[in-house]
Amino acid sequence: MDQAKQSPIHIACIMDGNGRWAKRRGLPRTEGHTAGEENLAEVVRVCASRNVGWLTVFGFSTENWVRPPAEVKHILSLHKRLFGRVEELNAHNVRIQWIGRPFDEPGSKTPAFIQKAILQAIEDTAHNTGMVLTVAFDYGSRAELLRAAQRSRASHNASHDISVAEITSHMYAPNLPPVDVVVRTSGESRISNFMLWQIKGAKVYFTERTWPDFDAREIDNALELVHAR
Ligand code: FPP
Repeated sequence: MDQAKQSPIHIACIMDGNGRWAKRRGLPRTEGHTAGEENLAEVVRVCASRNVGWLTVFGFSTENWVRPPAEVKHILSLHKRLFGRVEELNAHNVRIQWIGRPFDEPGSKTPAFIQKAILQAIEDTAHNTGMVLTVAFDYGSRAELLRAAQRSRASHNASHDISVAEITSHMYAPNLPPVDVVVRTSGESRISNFMLWQIKGAKVYFTERTWPDFDAREIDNALELVHAR
């Protein structure tokens, strides 16, 4: 099929298996995350060169804070690195956005230096018109849905029922189109509190490859799935 004639695809990735990638090589888990961040930069480049309009990645979940402090610290530093890749993102015409528990709301755990990095990256790439890279940080789908339901109820008018459109309008990023294909690497076949509202109808691509080994060929396999009947 000629991808150029089709509407841009939304691909959402659960980047799993960094720890296993490192373990197989006798390296500390942190090295796996470092390789994972480097691979994400490559995945962004490949996706931007395909018919991908939206790439959403699960960088850090609301559940990940219980990991050992040194590992959390390392993953946070990698997010700072990712949000600092402005030159590359601009070169590929990629706009950054973020989803997660809003900084000023109860429960938010995003430290100030990551807040700053996120806001700066959003500002520095705001002019780009190509692919949108959405990073989920301090993100959990249930927290997102609960908040959307509460906000819909608060603005509820007795003359009408709460609608799908209303819930969608209260998602962290209401501009996100429905996901076309969800990817999870590393042989896990679970969705794990990721984009539960947005993945209705999505294809699912599970692969044995760990995230640092998720390459262009794998991306193309996932994209193929979107067009398969
Ligand atoms: C899963 O590996 C990955 C994460 C916990 C998310 C962190 C992702 C990265 C650091 C990749 C780069 C992304 C950004 C946005 C900077 P795991 O530790 O669960 O692997 P395991 O299941 O093999 O232990």
